[in-house]
Amino acid sequence: MNDNAGAVVRVGLGERHKRIESFEPGAAKPALYPEWGKTPYHRVDAARYISAEHVDLEAERLWPYIWQAACREEELPETGDFLEYKITDQSIILVRTASGAIKGYFNACPHRGTQLAKGCGHITQFVCPFHGWRWSLDGINRYVHDRVEFPDLTDEELRLPEAAVEIWGGFVFVRLSSTGPTLAEYLEPVAKDLAPYRIEDYRIKSWRTIVLGANWKVALEAFEEAYHSMGSHPQTMKGNCDVNCSYDTYGPHSRLTAPIGMPSARFKGRVKEQEVLETAIDNLLDIGLADDAERRGLEQLREIPLAEGQTTRALFQEMAHARLKDFLPDIPIDRHMEDWNYTLFPNLTFNLLPGSIFGFIARPNGGDPDSCIFDVIVLAHPAGEEWPAVERELVTDPDHDWGVVAAQDFSNMELVQQGLHQRTTKFTRLASYQEKRIVNRIAHIDRYYEMYAERRSDDR
Ligand code: FES
Ligand SMILES: [Fe+2]
Repeated sequence: MNDNAGAVVRVGLGERHKRIESFEPGAAKPALYPEWGKTPYHRVDAARYISAEHVDLEAERLWPYIWQAACREEELPETGDFLEYKITDQSIILVRTASGAIKGYFNACPHRGTQLAKGCGHITQFVCPFHGWRWSLDGINRYVHDRVEFPDLTDEELRLPEAAVEIWGGFVFVRLSSTGPTLAEYLEPVAKDLAPYRIEDYRIKSWRTIVLGANWKVALEAFEEAYHSMGSHPQTMKGNCDVNCSYDTYGPHSRLTAPIGMPSARFKGRVKEQEVLETAIDNLLDIGLADDAERRGLEQLREIPLAEGQTTRALFQEMAHARLKDFLPDIPIDRHMEDWNYTLFPNLTFNLLPGSIFGFIARPNGGDPDSCIFDVIVLAHPAGEEWPAVERELVTDPDHDWGVVAAQDFSNMELVQQGLHQRTTKFTRLASYQEKRIVNRIAHIDRYYEMYAERRSDDR
């Protein structure tokens, strides 16, 4: 395992018992949901999640070729600000240059390979700690000690080798390979659909990183279907619907849309609207998006009975629209209280509501198939307010407060990972419609395995 590896933090296992006691089964009528069950269930080999072979295949044929979100642009505000992004055994230094552009350099000295920077911070130039060679922030060599000793070394060889860097929605994306589609081509048509949300204007409310005891794909899959709501989050179901959801794929990317502020259709209309309101407030508070003032506002709503015929969903839609309409004018009122959960292939998944994002990035933890580095990211539109810059936090406390729903999700992951190792678990069995996004990722990873079976000679 390389220095990417961190110790696994075991999260929220206690929550599991609470939720099993409150389990309330109820099947939705398949006839109401015509997409369900129209194709055979899918099988995915357990080896995809637990074998060293697949860790290696992904490291060789997937991670170098995809665009991956490394940080937010706001994390590098000034010329010389840098941040190290690690994926498998590769390290890229992202730095804001004098022109304002962000560049990414492979973290290795062209002399004898020494890494040039670690973590994050501020520099005016790169200085190799071994023999003191130097580069400008643009990657151009400015000094070689006893240059005469390298008579045939060209300026081009002396440049710091670059990774591709592009920005979308305020996320800084990196691609290691020198060949491949532009970020805009890679993200179509998702980027166009998301344009009205103006994600580039959102700012970090929190960025917490934890090492979880599950493969990076297992971790992300926990958020890509609402099918687990009944089993894992029964306390949310009077305020979030797990049934009237749509699941779509766009090439390798995918989306789940889920209505919130309304009860699960499994209750067949037998929930009082005041209960819907209370649950929706609990659900919103649990995500941890709300600041103190918003928390107080939500708590106050509990005290005010809904008017005759008024719905929780309409109430929240009106409130959110009133707060954000000047900043997000192209988002219609009925889009508020729609959770659009996107996956940008392969490893950024986020729940998007107008003006806010609750998202996750998962990466392999060194060479270990059984753990991953997991970023939990909360972004929001400042809506005219000024916020202080937020520092990333590495969470190592197993009792850290993630909110009940996230802790329930995290606690599943390790159970899944360990179950996948059992001799009898040859493959998983995935619902034909509600779990199709999971299958889609695996299918597209296979495409990368095929496309990059051999490294091109003109690639770096
Ligand atoms: S290894 Fe960097 S200057 Fe020698
Ligand atoms: Fe969940």
